Amino acid sequence: MGRAISELLAAEGARVVVNYRASSDAAREVVRGIQAAGGEAVAHAANVQNDVEVRSMVDSAEDRWGRLDVLVNNAGWSKLTPHWKLDDLTDEIWDRTLNTNLRGAFYCCRAAVPLMRKNGGGSIVNNASASAYSAAGSSIVYSASKAAMVNMTKSLARALAPDIRVNAIAPGLVETRFAGWPKEAFEQGREGSPLRRIASVEDVASTVLFLAADANAITAETILIDCGATMLATSRPRRR
Ligand SMILES: NC(=O)c1ccc[n+]([C@@H]2O[C@H](COP(=O)([O-])OP(=O)(O)OC[C@H]3O[C@@H](n4cnc5c(N)ncnc54)[C@H](OP(=O)(O)O)[C@@H]3O)[C@@H](O)[C@H]2O)c1
Repeated sequence: MGRAISELLAAEGARVVVNYRASSDAAREVVRGIQAAGGEAVAHAANVQNDVEVRSMVDSAEDRWGRLDVLVNNAGWSKLTPHWKLDDLTDEIWDRTLNTNLRGAFYCCRAAVPLMRKNGGGSIVNNASASAYSAAGSSIVYSASKAAMVNMTKSLARALAPDIRVNAIAPGLVETRFAGWPKEAFEQGREGSPLRRIASVEDVASTVLFLAADANAITAETILIDCGATMLATSRPRRR
């Protein structure tokens, strides 16, 4: 999703810092692709769990381009852990999930806000998950981390108005490498979907672009991108 979001925002004229934790080759490939298409981008390594690294990412954006208009909190982590296997949900999984998905997004907002405000404000888009509502994500703590992100989106929207809008997206299952979902999960997702498909990374990117750049009257909102799966789940007739 980070690749698709970066490419679309760059194609629309944004100068993009492509942040990564470990995937240096992938980040550099995204940057090269954006540059080859005539856009501007730079790769930067920052673990979002680390406040010092996050602040250095924002500083490097300021050094290079002098401003920050959009922050997309896309970094996320999860380990597929069946909800009924309570003992499998280790302290390590618990801490890494919350520290990446929730604390990391907060660190990025906290570091970015002063630079956004220097040039009149901006827009923050948080990547939550439909599991914030369904509570059926890759683990119990993953769903909880994304529900907290939806809540935090509202708190930040109130706290940072009027010059910074804060919104979130809540994708349903999207076919990426995330959390180690098996191939069958995506097939089942398509079969069970009201629209008979699951969202693509391009669907996600276009919603991020809308919230970041066009949705001037929208703040504190979370948009589901799940082909109707969450809202229509209870009214769908059971299949035999
Ligand atoms: N795929 C789905 O079904 C789905 C559904 C709903 C929401 N989401 C959310 O969508 C977002 C993107 O996920 P994806 O599906 O595109 O999976 P992905 O390919 O695994 O991407 C996750 C990204 O997060 C980065 N990341 C993880 N921990 C980090 C850290 N501590 N600091 C900085 N970056 C970190 C990873 O970079 P490194 O590889 O360098 O660690 C990677 O680029 C996540 O927030 C996820 O929760 C996914």
